[in-house]
Amino acid sequence: MIDTPSPHLDRSTVDAVEARALAALAHAATLEDLRAAQAAVLGKRGELTELNAVIGTLADTDRKAAGAVLNEARARLTAAFGARAEALEAGARTARLDAERLDLTETLPGPQRGSLSLVTQTRDALEDTFVGMGFVVAEGPEVESDWHNFEALNMPPAHPARSGFDTLYLEWGEQESTLLRTHTSPVQIRLMLDQPPPIYAVMPGRVYRKDTPDARHTPSFSQIEGLVVDRGISFGDLAGTIDTFTRAYFGPQISARLRPAYFPFTEPSAEFEITCTICEGAGCRTCSGTGWVELGGCGMVHPNVFAAVGIDPEEWTGFAFGFGIDRLAQMRYAIPDMRVLADNDLRFTAQF
Ligand code: PHE
Repeated sequence: MIDTPSPHLDRSTVDAVEARALAALAHAATLEDLRAAQAAVLGKRGELTELNAVIGTLADTDRKAAGAVLNEARARLTAAFGARAEALEAGARTARLDAERLDLTETLPGPQRGSLSLVTQTRDALEDTFVGMGFVVAEGPEVESDWHNFEALNMPPAHPARSGFDTLYLEWGEQESTLLRTHTSPVQIRLMLDQPPPIYAVMPGRVYRKDTPDARHTPSFSQIEGLVVDRGISFGDLAGTIDTFTRAYFGPQISARLRPAYFPFTEPSAEFEITCTICEGAGCRTCSGTGWVELGGCGMVHPNVFAAVGIDPEEWTGFAFGFGIDRLAQMRYAIPDMRVLADNDLRFTAQF
């Protein structure tokens, strides 16, 4: 501020004001500092602005030149403050974004990377094993018709085996005509309708049963189905395939055995058991001391099933098998309660 206006406004006075203002600009670390420095020189009562008053006291001949000097200085300073303000604003924006960025991993305990569900991992490993044995992978719908889920599988209406499936029906079409598939076996039907033999396929997927959740049951779980249809397929092929798969998947210390059973869609039928993976056959609580645990069902494709899909049972024979993926994971990893597979509790999921 100039207290006593000098009758001369020389360039060095303006230069000094400009130099001070640029030094203040360079010092301003924040936008507020910068605005204060700008106001001090260019504001209504700023140093440069007040020099305007001097112009009025000058001789007519000097006014024009003095006015030009002041205007040029003002223009340079305005540009310099503007550029600096932009730079500070950009910096502040970046800092704000950094501060506001939500780092979700910081709120998680333990390992911070997600992973596939244990059931998905198990399904992938099973698919790999079967693909290695020459099978292809196929899928079918979870909403099924009664015909695919039951009737074509040799379970006509009122067949007693139906009651064992605790079916969840949908309100769609005729009553009890549409359901959530209770097993992956209907995919066998779809496959045989879709393509002529030979067929070597596994069919993984989710199935549903009206079960109350407990340590060994959940109303939705996953199965993997197997189907082979070719000329001259025998029960020996079935037994050999199950045993080869068991050793390939679990390792050579685990083998499989078959025990007679009943399924409407296979004849003869068997349940297959594998060496208990917890005690490796010595006998423990999980296997009730027997050394074996049941894994799934299997058998030779029933002629009535071939008839339903139009395959000639005189020319073709085949076998099918099916087992629970969740149950297998439960056994392999010694999981006491199946419900944790769906709970999404990080203390559990982070272990796999
Ligand atoms: N679908 C049967 C079940 O869910 C298992 C099975 C599949 C049995 C294929 C025999 C052949 O219990």
